[in-house]
Amino acid sequence: MKKALVAGALGVTGRTLVNHLISLGDWEVIGLSRRNPEFQSSAKYIAVDLSDRSAVEAKLSNVGDVTHIFFAALYWGTNVFDEVGPNLAMLTNLVETVERSSKQFRKVVLLEGAKWYGAHLGPYKTPAREDDLRHMPPNFYYDQEDYLKTQSTAKSWSWSSLRPSSICGFAVGNPMNMATVLAVYAVLCKEMGLPLRFPGTAKSYNIIMEMTDAALLAKAVVWAGESEQCNGEAFNITNGDFNRWTNLWPRLADYFKMDYAPPQHLPLTQFMSDKATLWQNLVKKHGLLDYTFEQAVSWPFGEAIFNIEYDIMSDTTKSRRYGFLEWVDTEEMLFRLFTQFQKMRFIPTL
Ligand SMILES: NC(=O)c1ccc[n+]([C@@H]2O[C@H](COP(=O)([O-])OP(=O)(O)OC[C@H]3O[C@@H](n4cnc5c(N)ncnc54)[C@H](OP(=O)(O)O)[C@@H]3O)[C@@H](O)[C@H]2O)c1
Repeated sequence: MKKALVAGALGVTGRTLVNHLISLGDWEVIGLSRRNPEFQSSAKYIAVDLSDRSAVEAKLSNVGDVTHIFFAALYWGTNVFDEVGPNLAMLTNLVETVERSSKQFRKVVLLEGAKWYGAHLGPYKTPAREDDLRHMPPNFYYDQEDYLKTQSTAKSWSWSSLRPSSICGFAVGNPMNMATVLAVYAVLCKEMGLPLRFPGTAKSYNIIMEMTDAALLAKAVVWAGESEQCNGEAFNITNGDFNRWTNLWPRLADYFKMDYAPPQHLPLTQFMSDKATLWQNLVKKHGLLDYTFEQAVSWPFGEAIFNIEYDIMSDTTKSRRYGFLEWVDTEEMLFRLFTQFQKMRFIPTL
C-alpha cells in the first residue's frame, strides 16, 4: 500500500482527489484540513492547522510511513504579498514533519496554477508553457516550488508540480470553483424568471479560455506522483480543449432549461449581496443540502473570471509527451457536474 497525505482535502481539488485515491484501491488516504468533513467517507481525515508546526507534528505523530504528499492546501490572502508566508509555512511544516517520520517518503506533488504565469495580473504570453520565465514576485507558487527544489536535493524523495486552470468540481466554503458559480448563478436567475445572461464584459465574452476538471486533475496528481520521469518537473493540466463563453453560454441556457439572452455586464458580487434569502428559500423549497449562500458559492471569484479580457491558454503538450494522455470535453464536464449537483441535492432538479 502507498500512503498519501492529501493536504487541503476539503477543497475543490482535495475532495475529488481523496475519492479518486480511494477508488484506486491501493492507497491508504489521510485527508488534512482544519475543518472536519461534513460527509461520510472511508478516508481518514485529520483536522489540523498546517500553519502551526507543533500542531502538525502532534497530529501526524501516529500516521506511520507516508509515501506521498499531495499538496492542495491554500491560504487565500487579501493580496499577493500576504499569501507567500502562510502558503510556504503550510508546505514546509508538512514536508519537514513527514521527512523526519517516514522512511518510505518518496514524492510531493504540489498544486500550482495558471497564476504561475501571471494569469491574474493581466495579458500574458499564451499559450503558456512550463519553461516560460517567471513574472516579478511575489508569487507564492515560486516560493513553494523553490523550497521543494532545495529541500529535496540529495534526498530520497522528489517533487512535481501541476498547473491547472480554473478548476471545476464540488466543494463548499472555498474561494474558487467555476462549476458552483455557474450552477448557483443559473438557478438563481431561473428562480427570478430571468434569462441566462453572461454578467461579464462584452470583451471577456469572446476570449479564449479553458478549465480543469477536478476528476482529471486527480488522475494527473496520481500520475505525477508515481512516474519517476516527472520528478523535478512542472506540468500544465487542463481539460485539453479551449472555449469561449460566447459558445458555451447558449448551451448552458439549454441545459438549465432557460431562455438565453445576450450579455449584460453587472458587478456580480454587489448584485448577489441581497440574494442570500432567495438561496435559502430555494434550499427550503427543494430540500437542498443546508449550505449557506456564502458556503455555496464565491461571487468575487465568478466576477473576476467573467471579467477577464484576455486569453487564458496553457500548452499541455509537455504532460502528453511525458505520458499523461487523459482529456475531458469541457461542456460535457460542466453538464456532468451540474447533474451531480442535482443528484446530491446541491441545486434543485431542473
Ligand atoms: N480552484 C481553482 O479554480 C484553482 C485554479 C488553479 C489553481 N488552483 C490552485 O490549486 C491549489 C488548490 O486549490 P483549491 O482551489 O483546491 O483550494 P480550496 O478549494 O480553497 O481548498 C483549500 C483547502 O486547504 C485547506 N486549508 C486552508 N488553510 C489550511 C490550514 N491552515 N491548515 C489546513 N488546511 C488548510 C482548506 O480546508 P479548511 O478551510 O478546512 O482548512 C481546503 O481543504 C491552490 O494552489 C490553488 O491556487 C486552484
